[in-house]
Amino acid sequence: MKPKTFLIESLIGLGGLFLIVSALGIYILNEPNRIVAAQNEILSSQLDDAMTLYAENCSVCHGLRGEGIGATPPLDSAALRTMPYDDLYKTIARGRYQTAMPAWSIEDGGPLSDYQIDELTTLILYGDWTKTGERTVNLGLAPLIPFTAEPDPALLAELANLPDGSTLQAAVQLFAANCVACHGADGLGTGIAPALNDPAVREKSAEEINRVITYGSAGTLMAGWSNALTAEDISALTTLIQRWDEVPLGTIPAPNVPIPVTEESLALGSQLFAANCARCHGPEGQGTPRAPSLNVKSFLTQTSDLAIQQIITQGVPGTAMPAWGDRMTAAEIQAIVGFIRQWEPTAPEVAVITRPGGGGPPWLRNETNNANPLPSTGGPRQAGQAGQPATQTVPSLDWRLLLLVGVVLSLAFTLIFTGLFSLKQT
Ligand code: HEC
Ligand code: HEC
Ligand code: HEC
Repeated sequence: MKPKTFLIESLIGLGGLFLIVSALGIYILNEPNRIVAAQNEILSSQLDDAMTLYAENCSVCHGLRGEGIGATPPLDSAALRTMPYDDLYKTIARGRYQTAMPAWSIEDGGPLSDYQIDELTTLILYGDWTKTGERTVNLGLAPLIPFTAEPDPALLAELANLPDGSTLQAAVQLFAANCVACHGADGLGTGIAPALNDPAVREKSAEEINRVITYGSAGTLMAGWSNALTAEDISALTTLIQRWDEVPLGTIPAPNVPIPVTEESLALGSQLFAANCARCHGPEGQGTPRAPSLNVKSFLTQTSDLAIQQIITQGVPGTAMPAWGDRMTAAEIQAIVGFIRQWEPTAPEVAVITRPGGGGPPWLRNETNNANPLPSTGGPRQAGQAGQPATQTVPSLDWRLLLLVGVVLSLAFTLIFTGLFSLKQT
């Protein structure tokens, strides 16, 4: 009796020991894998941070996904991937003297910490530029104006008639070549830099403006330009900024650059449109008696993405069209613009305004289309609100409801039968 229990107990103890030892062994053997996994995790979190840093600081000059813009070189190049780490790091930290490439390290007056520059170096060496491009779009930071723009030749020539016109002409060309990407067409500002064509800026002294252009504004995207421009260039730009109210709008026009989209931005745009715009512009943008159609060829072909973005941001004063700029981020508004632009290939030539019951059953919709677009029967609000959800929810509710009823019924039957069965047994 006793020796037998002892034997069993020892066997159990041995088994336990074996389990502990083998677990430890597996743990130790697995350690290198764990270290590699941890390193990969750090690398991917660094790359993740770096994509946002790139979108915020570099995409404006080097392009949406590092492809380069105009004279600014690409960063997605094989040559850079084989460049020694230290050289690449130094290029970013210190910039390139006498070019538009500013110094980025805090030591050199830039906005980025050593760790952030390290992350960006890692991105250029190992990063995924397609993903970086998607990040840039999703953050609403895709450059919409190329780094340089072309001044309108006729308006540029007209500037000669103004006092000291040749200085203004030179400055407009410098601005179009160096500043437009950040400060916007006609100096009206963008999401990343303030308007310079602005009464508040005109009030500043020439010395103050000259100083910002020469030395930059530490810790921001505004680099100092003393490396790239002469003192004479900078003083001409200062003159332009102080006298911008004399320069006609359209002298430095916005090129028609489409807002890029990603799957994520389209989904966001669709959701925001449904939540904020559909009640006035109709669920498919076809228009309602309250607001014009957006899903129509004439509007979409005549209005650039930048213009649509501006209308949505600023609203249409004196109408029911609200300004969305203080309620939505630039990224959200761009997502909506991308979503609206998607309609262009299939947009009807003529707007077919949704009217009361327009979202209802097909026989009603046909009648509506042929009829006068203005509401003739019933209140537009009531009918519109009752009609739209009905078509959208009824079909989907149908099969889900059926499924639910089926499941509940079969559960009930099972319960009843097992109940009866056990009753019978006892
Ligand atoms: C204001 C425009 C501008 C911005 C913003 C900018 N760059 Fe540059 N960058 C340039 C220009 C112009 C050059 C080319 C300089 C030259 O001619 O050597 C350049 C060159 C480079 C190079 C060297 C490329 C090569 O082929 O030798 C690297 C690397 C680089 N930039 C990284 C960055 C990073 C990272 C950022 C963001 C933190 C950034 N740049 C932001 C304008 C810019
Ligand atoms: C890479 C983007 C970028 C470029 C290119 C750029 N700027 Fe700026 N600029 C900025 C940002 C961002 C600010 C705001 C800085 C701050 O908040 O202090 C700014 C501020 C300024 C200001 C001060 C405005 C004020 O309200 O006082 C002036 C003047 C100016 N920039 C002129 C220029 C000129 C001229 C050029 C072209 C030679 C230029 N900038 C190119 C990003 C840029
Ligand atoms: C309260 C009703 C209302 C809402 C909500 C509304 N809009 Fe509008 N919208 C209007 C009206 C009215 C106009 C026509 C303004 C006019 O007369 O120029 C308009 C005009 C526009 C235009 C210009 C159309 C053209 O033909 O020039 C665009 C673009 C637009 N809206 C987009 C949007 C977007 C995007 C949203 C959602 C974020 C939205 N609107 C939400 C009422 C509305």
